[in-house]
Amino acid sequence: MVAHRCVPFLIVAALCTGFLFVVFRSSSWRDIPQSLGLGHHEPTEYEKIHALPDLRTTRPKVDYPHIGEGVFKEPKIESSSPYPVGQTKPPGSNYTRCLVVARLKSESTAWIDEQLDDMLASGLLSKAVYTVDDRSAPLHPPRNKGHEVMVYLSYIIDFYDDLADVNIFMHAHRYTWHNNELLNNDASLMVRHLSPERVTRDGYMNLRCHWDPGCPSWLHPGATEKNPEKGEETLVADAWAELFPFDPIPAVLSQPCCAQFAVSKERVLALPKQRYVGLRDWVLRTELSDYMSGRVFEYTWQFLFTAAPLHCPSMSACYCDGYGYCFGSPQAFDYWFEMRYLRESYKQELHIWRERADLIEEARQRSTDGRVKEDALLEVPEPGRNVWLRDQIKNLTVEMERSRSAAFELGKEPRHRALEAGREWRDGDGY
Ligand SMILES: *[C@@H]1O[C@H](CO)[C@@H](O)[C@H](O)[C@H]1NC(C)=O
Ligand SMILES: *[C@@H]1O[C@H](CO)[C@@H](O)[C@H](O)[C@H]1NC(C)=O
Repeated sequence: MVAHRCVPFLIVAALCTGFLFVVFRSSSWRDIPQSLGLGHHEPTEYEKIHALPDLRTTRPKVDYPHIGEGVFKEPKIESSSPYPVGQTKPPGSNYTRCLVVARLKSESTAWIDEQLDDMLASGLLSKAVYTVDDRSAPLHPPRNKGHEVMVYLSYIIDFYDDLADVNIFMHAHRYTWHNNELLNNDASLMVRHLSPERVTRDGYMNLRCHWDPGCPSWLHPGATEKNPEKGEETLVADAWAELFPFDPIPAVLSQPCCAQFAVSKERVLALPKQRYVGLRDWVLRTELSDYMSGRVFEYTWQFLFTAAPLHCPSMSACYCDGYGYCFGSPQAFDYWFEMRYLRESYKQELHIWRERADLIEEARQRSTDGRVKEDALLEVPEPGRNVWLRDQIKNLTVEMERSRSAAFELGKEPRHRALEAGREWRDGDGY
């Protein structure tokens, strides 16, 4: 059934319910941990000295612009990767893909079989699910340390001579805030729609299109001043000479967050297997804890696979060329996210409206004469505002769905993908 060579063992996902949470852009969304929760979390002595607060809970929030706030300007950062553009296959050709996932024994990856069964059955998708805390699992890393880093490197080492055309590295959970919002934060949709051609051309693709957090300028490892908001900055500086002894420390390391990406076979093979073994040895040896050693890699994968410290492709190009959702222009693309932002703010307002209304209703029921005393100091919600908010939310939802479907239709057209990605297109070219 699962025919691809890259998974010699069938992993039967026994757990049947995936954990499911959709995190909207609310004030607390950054508090949701993106990490796998692998291994221990006790800081070592070294880490106690060096560790600083988790980035995602202390960083200031960067909000999308409000609707009507002017022309959208997407900053441009040209990739400085010295690698040549990878050669795609003739249009219509098949690409093999392998989905590499790190999981704890307690985490379910049943979503892979449930959501991607057709791709698995066709033999074009295979999976390599590594269970980090079960040494009897068919695939497991030598040690449960370094979060997903250990698993990603172990896969490359284990399958170096037998890689898929496109190797997709992901966490075990299906839904998470750092998955792409336009794809419902759903990992299975990201795998399904990922363009193997874009991965092949670029060699390396961060699966997250959104720049925040991570782009356009994130870690400054050469900085002499300690930045209290970025604990890894000094950790990366300390580790750099061990990880990349022949490269000077870059002034800036940036890419979208969260360590999920795809790499072409050709690009993996651009480095000798021994290189990956050496990196894994570093993770095995380092005094940094599981958690911090994982953090060090989050903003260095792009350097490993592109030899460029910055990897911040245009968001709209990432969605269009990378996943086939083409809005026609960065402005039109941004408008969709403005609608989404507005909708989330209306949802929050409605939530607060209802809470206030409930409080007043409670007070009314408690009082003897059915009247709320003035000294109850309750904030009275504006009458009718709830109906208006509900309408707006409904209208925005309809418009967003319409616009997303149109973008998906446009994305079926290879010419549009090339156009939005800013690459040349000739008649007969495929994606
Ligand atoms: C691609 O794979 C599908 C499913 O396995 C198969 O039906 C189709 O013939 C293949 N196409 C090419 C061009 O090999
Ligand atoms: C929602 O859309 C309907 C139909 O297009 C329109 O009549 C209504 O005024 C809109 N509601 C709001 C609150 O904009």
